[in-house]
Amino acid sequence: MAYAAGVDVGSTQTKAVIVDEDCSIVSRALTDTGANVMRAAETAFQEALLSGDLREEEVEYVVGTGYGRYKVTFGNTQVTEISCHGRGAVQMFPGTRTVVDMGGQDTKAIRVAATGEILDFCMNDKCAAGTGRFLGAASSALDIPLGELGPTAMRGERPVKISTTCTVFAESEVLSWLGKGKKIEDILLGVHKSIAGRSAGLLRRVGIESEVTFTGGVAKNVAMIDALNQKLGLEVNVSDDSHYMGALGAALFALDHVFASREPTPAKQGAR
Ligand SMILES: Nc1ncnc2c1ncn2[C@@H]1O[C@H](COP(=O)(O)OP(=O)(O)OP(=O)(O)O)[C@@H](O)[C@H]1O
Ligand SMILES: [Mg+2]
Repeated sequence: MAYAAGVDVGSTQTKAVIVDEDCSIVSRALTDTGANVMRAAETAFQEALLSGDLREEEVEYVVGTGYGRYKVTFGNTQVTEISCHGRGAVQMFPGTRTVVDMGGQDTKAIRVAATGEILDFCMNDKCAAGTGRFLGAASSALDIPLGELGPTAMRGERPVKISTTCTVFAESEVLSWLGKGKKIEDILLGVHKSIAGRSAGLLRRVGIESEVTFTGGVAKNVAMIDALNQKLGLEVNVSDDSHYMGALGAALFALDHVFASREPTPAKQGAR
């Protein structure tokens, strides 16, 4: 059995996935990217090897993706994260035609063909509005762990209206609502709705075609899934492996190389 790996070095978290020849995920690992990007890539890959009980030599090809893909020094090649999220999403949910990737730094809207080929994409690049970073600002302002943001927002009933689109001002706006006596759950519900609204706008720019698959770490957040479903008027696809979708796509590109290297050399043209 041959194996291939994908390492998605994101701005916030680094994910590694190892797949076998049947495109099945054998193991996965996640670590914070931190300041030493090269080390994060190495750590995630080594942890994935360990959890899959594999030796490095058994992994025939490694593809790096994400903003730090060139820091995957042990990788064989790199592929953009747009391509990898598209490929991973179509593999996991074959009906996928639109992908929304919400990561630590930015949100990306991607339109894909049935083959996983990228037809169009769009991302919020200027300010980190509509992203995990906005959630991070709310989390520190309210002193609530990231993992609790979603469940807390789900208890909200009267969402406040968040007007800022900039992460820099998110914290002060959240605090000002708190000062006005609003409940934490209503503030957080407002934050989720605001991010979902801006993400829906981004998706409309590429064209929303069902099925929509939600990828990236923010897909772990129940309130964001709910807010997106409401804004889009459909149910987005989410899996326990949504956070690993880019790394999965990278691993599948790596697997292509493994198969390509096995193809027999074509017979010489014109030989009789
Ligand atoms: N258990 C969790 N519950 C809620 N949110 C989470 C959880 N784990 C991660 N997140 C969110 O996911 C974000 C990281 O997602 P991801 O790993 O996809 O980002 P990234 O790939 O590093 O960033 P980018 O793609 O923007 O460069 C965190 O900033 C956080 O907001
Ligand atoms: Mg990412």
